[in-house]
Order: sequence, then C-alpha cells, then structure tokens
Amino acid sequence: MAVVRVREHVNPLSRKYQVAATLPDWAQVYGQADQPLHLDIGCGRGRFLLQMAPQHPNWNFLGLEIREPLVDQANQWREDAGLQNLFYLFCNANTSIAPLLRSLPPQCLQRVTIQFPDPWFKRRHQKRRVVQPELVDAIAQFLVSGGEVFLQSDIAEVAIDMRDRFYEHAAFRPTSEDWLPTNPMPIPTERELSTLERSEPVYRALFMRQ
Ligand SMILES: C[S@@+](CC[C@H](N)C(=O)[O-])C[C@H]1O[C@@H](n2cnc3c(N)ncnc32)[C@H](O)[C@@H]1O
Repeated sequence: MAVVRVREHVNPLSRKYQVAATLPDWAQVYGQADQPLHLDIGCGRGRFLLQMAPQHPNWNFLGLEIREPLVDQANQWREDAGLQNLFYLFCNANTSIAPLLRSLPPQCLQRVTIQFPDPWFKRRHQKRRVVQPELVDAIAQFLVSGGEVFLQSDIAEVAIDMRDRFYEHAAFRPTSEDWLPTNPMPIPTERELSTLERSEPVYRALFMRQ
C-alpha cells in the first residue's frame, strides 16, 4: 500500500477547521445504514477500521480524521477492498460531532473508540485535545444505552484527562476502577503497535452508557 506523507499535527482550533463537515447521505455510503455503528475518533491512517470492517460485516464503521489526505487515502483503500460497511470522514471531530451524530439513523451508535489522541502537552494547548466536555456530551446524547466508549493512550496525563471527562459525566459508568490490563478490541491500532514494540505502557479504560 503506497502511503501519503502528511504534517504530523494540525491545530484543530485554527479557522480552517471550524467549519462543520459536509455530511454524506448515509444510505449511499453504507450497504445497510441502520446496522450498529462503531465510531473511531482520530482514526489516523484508518488501518484499525480497515481490519475491523471485514471481520464484522454486521456492523458499520466510521473513522473521523482531521488530516484530509489520510482520509482520501483511507477511502481509496476502503474502495479497493470493496467494503460497504466502512467510511472515513474528513472533519474536526470537535466541530462536527453533534451534527454528524444527529444525521445518522436513530439508535445506531453502539461503540466509540478514541485511541492515542494527540497529546498537546502544553497547558495553553489543552483546548486542542480532542476529548472536551462538549464531545463527551454529544456522545452521551447519541450512544445507545449499554453502548461502549473505549479509550487508550500511551501518555498517562492524556489518558487520565480523557478518562476523567467520562468519569465526570453522569451518563457513563467505568467497567473497572483500574486501567484495563489488555485491549478488549480484537485489532491493535498503528500507534498501539509502535508503543508496544518499544515496551512502553498503554493506559486503557472502557465506559458503558447507562
Ligand atoms: C496519534 S494519532 C493516532 C491514530 C490512531 N488512532 C492510532 O491509534 O494509531 C491521533 C490522530 O487524531 C487526529 N485528530 C486529532 N485531533 C482531531 C480532531 N479534532 N478531529 C479529528 N481527528 C483528530 C490526528 O490528526 C491523528 O491522526
């Protein structure tokens, strides 16, 4: 697979990324638009979903990514593979999540993953992190009761920060008090693989929508 080169980070607060995404007609995108949906926020090159989709044909998969060339490439891979249950959308998740979730078939959102989001270490850059209270609110509004939110990061500070945002929200219940010892997803992400290859820790948490 040829791989496009892109900038490592973009600033989600810049004016260019304040415009809400152009939303497709989901009935045209997916073979069966009302199947359970797994949303992967900050999907990067999208290889996690590219492997999940053929293994779970009774689910739909949607990756959100702010770096447009990665989305174009991932949708090309999806087309080459002939997958009708997978789509990647170029957007700033923070700007687009509420209208996006509203546009989907009712009660379809069953799982959300946020895996190795950009850390934005500096205090003055924390507003650039993807897990903000408004994003958690939108997920709470549209995720079905019993639906899952899986979070993981290799940076303890980021993992604690995003875990706390879900802890604080009355709609979510953690499935364990401690970090999960293993990944409940059947496929590791690219960032996860490179972290594990360096024998570095991964902090994981799973929440249920009450
Ligand atoms: C470190 S990468 C991890 C990619 C993948 N989840 C993995 O684990 O391999 C984080 C990704 O989130 C994307 N991202 C960051 N902020 C975003 C936002 N507000 N909306 C959509 N994507 C975002 C970045 O462009 C980047 O591709």
